[in-house]
Amino acid sequence: MIIKCKNVTKIYPQGDKSIYAVNNCSVTIMEGLFTAVVGASGSGKSTFLNLLAAYDRPDGGKILYDGVELSMMRENEIAELRSRRIGFIFQSFKLLPILTAK
Ligand SMILES: Nc1ncnc2c1ncn2[C@@H]1O[C@H](COP(=O)(O)OP(=O)(O)OP(=O)(O)O)[C@@H](O)[C@H]1O
Ligand SMILES: [Mg+2]
Repeated sequence: MIIKCKNVTKIYPQGDKSIYAVNNCSVTIMEGLFTAVVGASGSGKSTFLNLLAAYDRPDGGKILYDGVELSMMRENEIAELRSRRIGFIFQSFKLLPILTAK
């Protein structure tokens, strides 16, 4: 799958100000390549990955999965994308202590 971002922006309100956690980001993530997002703590890496994985929606710009735009997909199509085509390891993984991997 090829993931394409065009001018993607994510803004968090903070009091009367806005934090541009991802600001006008355009990138193409090619299938079969290892791609790393690097940057200082707080620079927006997790926010960006949450957008790429369709866990969160951008406030501006477009995200396309094999040419299909996220904003044009129905909720069940997005659920299908998340469950079958995207693997995600959370930074805060919130393991359930009463359950084993099995
Ligand atoms: N849910 C939220 N509400 C408000 N602000 C947020 C939220 N999530 C992240 N932020 C802010 O957005 C900015 C980017 O945060 P993010 O967690 O994406 O950075 P990061 O690069 O993943 O940092 P780290 O390397 O510490 O994991 C920071 O200023 C952070 O405080
Ligand atoms: Mg992070």
